[in-house]
Amino acid sequence: MIAIGIDIGGTSIKGAAVYDDGKMLDVFSLPVIKGEPGEDTIEKLIDLLENYVKDQGIADEIIGIGIGIPGLIDVEKGVVVSSNNLKWENLPIVEIFKKRLPYPVRIANDANSAAYGEAIYGAGKGIPYVIMLTLGTGVGGGIVLDGELYEGNLGQGAELGHTVVQFGGRECSCGRKGCLERYASATALVFDTTKAMDEHPESLMHRISAEQGQIDGRVAFKAARQGDLAGLEVVEQYIYCLSEGILNYCNIFRPNIVILSGGIANEGDYLFDRINTYLAKERYGFPRSPVVKVVPAKLGYDSGKIGAAALFLHEKNS
Ligand code: BGC
Repeated sequence: MIAIGIDIGGTSIKGAAVYDDGKMLDVFSLPVIKGEPGEDTIEKLIDLLENYVKDQGIADEIIGIGIGIPGLIDVEKGVVVSSNNLKWENLPIVEIFKKRLPYPVRIANDANSAAYGEAIYGAGKGIPYVIMLTLGTGVGGGIVLDGELYEGNLGQGAELGHTVVQFGGRECSCGRKGCLERYASATALVFDTTKAMDEHPESLMHRISAEQGQIDGRVAFKAARQGDLAGLEVVEQYIYCLSEGILNYCNIFRPNIVILSGGIANEGDYLFDRINTYLAKERYGFPRSPVVKVVPAKLGYDSGKIGAAALFLHEKNS
């Protein structure tokens, strides 16, 4: 049994055929061209998928196509209502797919798909209550309770990145101020790193970013590991905001684990030990409530694709 899982991101779309044991065939990929109408991008994606299905010889085995999309979607109508990153508005994506391909198609929010993938096949396998945060351009959220993806009305829930951690704080693309996304995304980390570099010409971060050829989410972490004070301050503030956000979700859902994905999740024990130490003491009910463990994603950048395919491979109540 095979399903196609597609993960739509701000700069590229990636997809693959996924078996029901979670194994994937080759990945296909399409760049997202800024300003290109969503309809055109989807038509190109379908061209690519048609060739892929032919090349892999899997046409008769496919039970459906699952697609993870960032932003506001309507899972019942199969429409991308509004995706701020992609600038897609009212795009009837399921209808476009169905006009050209003979398979059933389902959509879900990108982070919901990723959480489902991790819960079924990755770090959350066999664990009842799983929360996931994707730390990238934005902060995506996913909730899996007792093996079922909780998506909320029309699949528009679990927007964990758009919960306020600072009243009147930084402006968010969603229109509110102080959302976690503005403090805990990779974008926010780069913003804070750049600001700290401007304020601290003596910081190691200058040398590290010059060596790397860019300022990315790793710069402050690398500097902090070497004892650089400005880097340490950026990292500590980042971890503090992220941990406070996670604590809110812990107190609402009391999950067994919280999974983090994105480049930042590659920071290993340095990051996870600090978050887990903070959570251990600050969680509601300490010390009598159960510990919530924060762990890195196991499927890495594949969780979105695999999770989108799982919308068919692991149907509700099956
Ligand atoms: C969007 C979410 C999305 C997340 C990760 C946020 O800005 O609002 O819908 O899941 O980014 O892509």
